[in-house]
Amino acid sequence: MPFGSLVGRASVAAFLGLAVLGGCAGDQGKTIRVACAGPMTGEQAKQGKDMENGAILAVDEWNAKGGVLGKKIELLVYDDAQDPKQANAVANKMFTQGVVAVDGHYNSSCTIPASEVYNQRHMVCLTPASTNPQVTDRGYPTIFRVCGRDDQQGKAGAEYVVKHMPGARVAVLDDKTTYGQGLAQEFLKHYESLSGQKVVFTGVIVKDDQDFTPTLTTMKSYNPDIVYFGGLYPQGGLIMKQMRQLGLKAAFMSGDGTYDPEFIRIAGAENAEGAYLTFIPDQEKIPAAQRVVAAYKKRFGELGPYSLYSYEAINIALQGMAKAGTTDGLKVAQAIHAMTFDTVFGPMRFDQKGDVLVSPYVMWQVRGGKLVQLPPDS
Ligand code: ALA
Repeated sequence: MPFGSLVGRASVAAFLGLAVLGGCAGDQGKTIRVACAGPMTGEQAKQGKDMENGAILAVDEWNAKGGVLGKKIELLVYDDAQDPKQANAVANKMFTQGVVAVDGHYNSSCTIPASEVYNQRHMVCLTPASTNPQVTDRGYPTIFRVCGRDDQQGKAGAEYVVKHMPGARVAVLDDKTTYGQGLAQEFLKHYESLSGQKVVFTGVIVKDDQDFTPTLTTMKSYNPDIVYFGGLYPQGGLIMKQMRQLGLKAAFMSGDGTYDPEFIRIAGAENAEGAYLTFIPDQEKIPAAQRVVAAYKKRFGELGPYSLYSYEAINIALQGMAKAGTTDGLKVAQAIHAMTFDTVFGPMRFDQKGDVLVSPYVMWQVRGGKLVQLPPDS
């Protein structure tokens, strides 16, 4: 899909109309434009689609109630192709197309450069999925994060290993991305300080490669009991598959970027069995989420890891506009900072940096080819 594609009820005529609005604020037109931006093409396209579906659901609900500030809401979908440069380019494109709020991006390596533009242009951005601390640690007033942070989930992974696998020989791998490297470092830092032990091996993979056996073969010679991987599911799945092909029986642990049924499909269910992944508690079991989960499934099928976060990113942006009485990004951001949101995850508030106050991480495990949430003490 080319970036800037319109979805939902928007027409091609409306899209062409955007061209003459270049650079103006979105509420000068007949509609208020919001965007969903993520990897809409390529190996992570499922995540992009999950985000888009959540955004469509939110926008359609608002439009059914009359829109916001007396105007209909138009959703534009942008493909960053999981590429930092493309993310920056689409962020600029959004500004020229009059987008006032952004639900995006998926990859921290995209959200961070794109949010330089959002900050400069005073556009509100809520990332549903980017967990690297730098997304919010720069303290930009219009940048928010609806999900948790890698310093939290790296620590959760480390605590689990220390508690359940004392004395284990631990290896750490990452994919050299902002997210993967950052998460691996958080895990390592917390693991070494909590256990008083050193990891036995650290290594990197090149994300665009398919064959990771050279690194995995070296890692195998260190005889690890568990491998912690900082990275995304397309590579995580291949790593697990190739580890098993090499006869490396070590346990595998990773984070939210690997949390997707696609990870199991890519690894092969037998190879993925037993893998540990940190993510939030089962969203389908949250009482407050039931109506939205049912509406989403009826329309789009299975919920993706970040579908509901994307849904709420849009809702929060629009509630901020309604409260502020304007689409002016700084004023909307101020309103968002002052509000408590009634979300599918329960009440949500943001701290000064734009992080949510509560973001629990729990351990999941692949069992019988499915992702299963482990009870707190198991
Ligand atoms: N949490 C992952 C990232 O930040 C998707 O890139």
